[in-house]
Amino acid sequence: MSLCLPLPRATLIELVSRSRCAACPSRGVFQGDLRNTDDLEKVFAARRYDAVIHFAGLKAVGESVAHPEMYYENNLIGTINLYKSMKEHGCKKLVFSSSATVYGWPEVIPCVEDSKLQAANPYGRTKLILEDMARDYHRADTEWSIVLLRYFNPIGAHSSGEIGEDPKGIPNNLLPYIQQVAVGRLPELNVYGHDYPTRDGTAIRDYIHVVDLADGHIAALKKLFDSPDIGCVAYNLGTGRGTSVLEMVAAFKKASGKEIPTKLCPRRPGDATEVYASTEKAERELAWRAQYGIEEMCRDQWNWAKKNPYGYCGGAKK
Ligand code: UFG
Repeated sequence: MSLCLPLPRATLIELVSRSRCAACPSRGVFQGDLRNTDDLEKVFAARRYDAVIHFAGLKAVGESVAHPEMYYENNLIGTINLYKSMKEHGCKKLVFSSSATVYGWPEVIPCVEDSKLQAANPYGRTKLILEDMARDYHRADTEWSIVLLRYFNPIGAHSSGEIGEDPKGIPNNLLPYIQQVAVGRLPELNVYGHDYPTRDGTAIRDYIHVVDLADGHIAALKKLFDSPDIGCVAYNLGTGRGTSVLEMVAAFKKASGKEIPTKLCPRRPGDATEVYASTEKAERELAWRAQYGIEEMCRDQWNWAKKNPYGYCGGAKK
């Protein structure tokens, strides 16, 4: 989903919250496909926009290895179309969903924004290409202001329990998988790798609450409007703290009161040992800092899971 933000600025946050469900045919939501330039034209012809938050993209690493063409088509062509429409309609402020994946297998921890960038798979390559593209757009036309937000591992759910992650099929990511074990949809969690050189042998990631992540976008938008000459700049959105797979299992068990049976398995190919963010730049320049810890992330994810054990389809087993 990409969100276009109209004037006046006071309505920015309101629009974000009103548009929270792309599947809802509610006011302010236009459903379209970035690969379809007619859809984009309809959106941009309808009114004047000040900025766009561009979330739309495929994001499953394994799928990108199996079907790279899907990733290049969706992530790259969709974004090129978006840039074209934005330019045609004089909207040159963009917040882009990038990813910690652009650090590949980081040589230095914590990851700082000017660390070496590399891609470990086609998904990562699309993010890296899109970051390079953003820098090129700004070099070619300094009226473009672009914030690249490098997400670490987003988890959790809105505290209402009404908005959460609903992966299709068997989840790839750790928390959705743990959640499905906790509600009884899956029998046990495969722990990929228990011989990493970490405190308990399992891999370490920087998990961030989705609500903190959302706040990071508001901070980024504010930056675009407050500092019109910002250019093209990247920020890490993480907590700066690393949590191992087994620590996450323990935290979810505590939050849910459920057993999470685990099976120790070989490492998953391509996984890094330890990835966590330096958050200093975002704190300094965006005045943003993650507020929630692992406990709140698990609490809110469990609240969502209890209320929606089968996701958005309201109890009908998938
Ligand atoms: N893990 C398990 N069992 C599972 C799933 C995951 O042990 O069933 C482990 C993984 O091996 C890894 C950790 O949990 O060590 C986190 O795995 P995730 O799949 O949840 O997340 P990743 O760090 O692999 O990848 C995430 C996003 C990517 C993004 C990357 C950026 O899913 O899109 O962060 O660092 F590119």
